[in-house]
Amino acid sequence: MKKIKFQSLPGMHDILPEDQKHFQRICKTVEGVANFYSFQKIETPILESADLFCKSTGLDTDIVEKQMYTFRTKGGDYVALRPELTPSVVRSYIENGMQSLPQPVKLWYEGPCFRYERPQAGRYRQFHQFGFEVLGDKSPAIDSQIIQMSYDVLKELHFKNLIIEINSIGDSECRPYFKKNLSNYLRSRRSSLCSNCQRRLKQNPLRILDCKEEKCQQIKTDAPQIMDHLCENCHDHFKQVLEFLDEAEMPYKLNPYLVRGLDYYTKTVFEIFENTPQGKEQGALIGGGRYDNLVKILGGRDTPGCGAAGGAERIANILKTKELKPLKVKEAKVFLAQLGNLAKKKSLKVLEEFRRSKIIVAESLSKDSLKAQLRTANKLGIKYVLIFGQKEALDGEIVVRDMESGSQETFELKNIVAEIKKKLKKLK
Ligand code: HAM
Repeated sequence: MKKIKFQSLPGMHDILPEDQKHFQRICKTVEGVANFYSFQKIETPILESADLFCKSTGLDTDIVEKQMYTFRTKGGDYVALRPELTPSVVRSYIENGMQSLPQPVKLWYEGPCFRYERPQAGRYRQFHQFGFEVLGDKSPAIDSQIIQMSYDVLKELHFKNLIIEINSIGDSECRPYFKKNLSNYLRSRRSSLCSNCQRRLKQNPLRILDCKEEKCQQIKTDAPQIMDHLCENCHDHFKQVLEFLDEAEMPYKLNPYLVRGLDYYTKTVFEIFENTPQGKEQGALIGGGRYDNLVKILGGRDTPGCGAAGGAERIANILKTKELKPLKVKEAKVFLAQLGNLAKKKSLKVLEEFRRSKIIVAESLSKDSLKAQLRTANKLGIKYVLIFGQKEALDGEIVVRDMESGSQETFELKNIVAEIKKKLKKLK
């Protein structure tokens, strides 16, 4: 019979033990920044009604049109693996009555997302996002805070050459006029656009500004710019966001072509890149913006929102190339070596007592020989080995061996956690 060889699906990856440290570092940093700014963590299901993303991310966006993993459940519901978390967070905000909490509500999250993209550098079909969302505050200070937090995360991860690209795409008052203006201009050059953009012309002309095709790039340089068409309110908002960024000395660059590929944005949009060849290849590390209509679109009260999300894989790919000091992890200074069946059985309880006292104890329960266990303890650089043999298990005692001096003492088993605590304290 032919052997079947299983492989992970294209664009889907294992995060192997040797790469965990990068992801842990990212999570810890995001959590630290979120805690500092009093954001609370939220977790939402990976599966949602597909309609949630059609209504919010947008039917004509690449994400919903081409990239969403959807299927019908046995009960007939049409569901999707989430391609992003913003719609889920807004759904949860409405569903759980967070509108009646003191506003703004500040939330952060992390978790897997799924997009059926063509796998390439920095683009996966399963990837991990972290993000921040603020609901219930329309002040430009919030846009700046979200940008600052996104920037802080990358700075703390030792990214040096960062560039924040920023734009305003207006709101429902000024954007329709701009869209019309832009469409008129683009329609007169229709035949010179790439085939994708010719199609976009009807549904979403703004996305043409974002197109990376050479022929479209040339056309957009003469295109009308939204900045010249913002209404007073949007203009004022954007000016204030930039003033905040200036004050905080953040390195931003105005990009009049930045529109972002999601439908819910209003006013501020931004993306942060690492300004190196590898950084450019990976694409935006973090992207976000304001979405003042989304809560209403999803059936809630009219509530402004603003947020950003980052891609952990893209960031980890760059972290791998940097030589960073390893994260401080608590290492075991104590090792439990057991000998004989009775001691082995009782060892689980001893380990549990240490765990409850937050003392890390290494062990090698699968090994039977004392010599092999001492060898392991040596390799781990252990200071104290607890020797728990048949005799000790019967007498309710345990031997503590100091691995540096070689000296041994016997203690009553019931006092062992307290005795080790005392010894570890002296080491500090
Ligand atoms: P997004 O720009 O679609 O925005 O995704 C945010 C980040 O997720 C990107 O900057 C990138 O780092 C990462 N990312 C996206 N797609 C992939 C992929 N296929 N492979 C690897 N990484 C990827 C959003 O998702 C919005 N929800 C952000 C937001 C939050 N806006 C307001 N609040």
